Amino acid sequence: MSDSKWQELEQRLFLRTVNRVPVTLVRGQGVLAWDDEGKEYLDFVGGWAVNSLGHCPSVVVEALEKQARTLIQASNQFYTIPQVQLAQLLIEHSCLDRVFFCNSGVEANEGALKLARRYGKLRLNGAYEVVTTHSSFHGRTLAMTAATGQSKFQEPYIPLPDGFVNVDYNNVDAVKQATGQQTCAVILEPIQGEGGVNVPDDDYLRRVQSWCREKGILFILDEIQTGVGRTGTLFAYERYGVEPDIMTLAKGLGAGVPIGALLARENFSLFSPGEHGSTFGGNPLVCAAAYAGLQYIIDNDIPGEVERVGNYFMLRLDELKQQFDVVTEVRGRGLLIALEFSQEIADQLVLACVDRGLLVNKVRPNALRFMPPLIITEKDVDKAISILADVLTDKFQAHGAES
Ligand SMILES: Cc1ncc(COP(=O)(O)O)c(C=O)c1O
Repeated sequence: MSDSKWQELEQRLFLRTVNRVPVTLVRGQGVLAWDDEGKEYLDFVGGWAVNSLGHCPSVVVEALEKQARTLIQASNQFYTIPQVQLAQLLIEHSCLDRVFFCNSGVEANEGALKLARRYGKLRLNGAYEVVTTHSSFHGRTLAMTAATGQSKFQEPYIPLPDGFVNVDYNNVDAVKQATGQQTCAVILEPIQGEGGVNVPDDDYLRRVQSWCREKGILFILDEIQTGVGRTGTLFAYERYGVEPDIMTLAKGLGAGVPIGALLARENFSLFSPGEHGSTFGGNPLVCAAAYAGLQYIIDNDIPGEVERVGNYFMLRLDELKQQFDVVTEVRGRGLLIALEFSQEIADQLVLACVDRGLLVNKVRPNALRFMPPLIITEKDVDKAISILADVLTDKFQAHGAES
């Protein structure tokens, strides 16, 4: 842990939107990162599920270097090749037909819900309401704050834009009850990430999809956190046997660079030129990097590895649960995993792990979330488990109360 001048400067210069962990990261390679005092960390935060291939993966670095010397930005007034190549790869490997590129997850969701409103206007007599779920997270714009079913994000900004109904997650009847004449879509995360890594029942998505098809409303999946291999299949919808009408991606899609994507089935690709757009979206630099990263993930069956190593990680976390009474639950899929405790100790654990060289994320006051690079090995898992076990032993005797 370092207490550098950068941290003092940050305190003075920034709007207070985040409580940062006192580490100033200056370099990363693979699953490792280093701070400004040369201390090494095993990174199980992964840039919040962004660094799918770890820090500075050579395929992405090479693509960036090459593209930076060729063409960085051109605007969407013109055709550019890397964005078409990336679109082709995404369409070939998903159930969707058309794509729109933007720069972040929230923009992808905004685009998805604008598309849902076009659908409502053109096909459902002006229906505009979207059903979303409690504990969801869809991003930070005003509209996506309204879509995000968590009062802690909504309350500071009330009144919020109209047109969203938040209902319980993993409850098909709640979706049915919230559906009315004005409903044009349902948007769900296949597994809720920021809300605590909440895994729904196996048939939840399938039953919501059937309801949407029956009612003629759009079934939208926010795969911003779950997509691109994170849960052990290229997209989480494959695991649940459904096919969304619209899907949003970001985070791991860029393997470290900022990109978002909105994908839609042909029948719902209802934008006309000028109805939506982006200055930076789909720029050649970012698309070349994302293309190289995604091609690597597909060619090397990284989702298969995620499934294997993720299962191992869950088993090892279950061992911690057996050892320490304070650990109450291990949940997740692939490499999106939460460890829950009976006490609100996540902040303390994050700092204690940092001290021992492991970066982890607090997802709730009583839960940690792990979103490591998709390329971690069993050895990395063992190292993380050993640090977690040390930290828990320091604070809690195995099977004991707080010491
Ligand atoms: C499921 C989901 N949707 C949307 C977002 C927003 O993405 P961004 O922060 O890139 O705008 C996030 C970010 O955590 C997310 O996890």
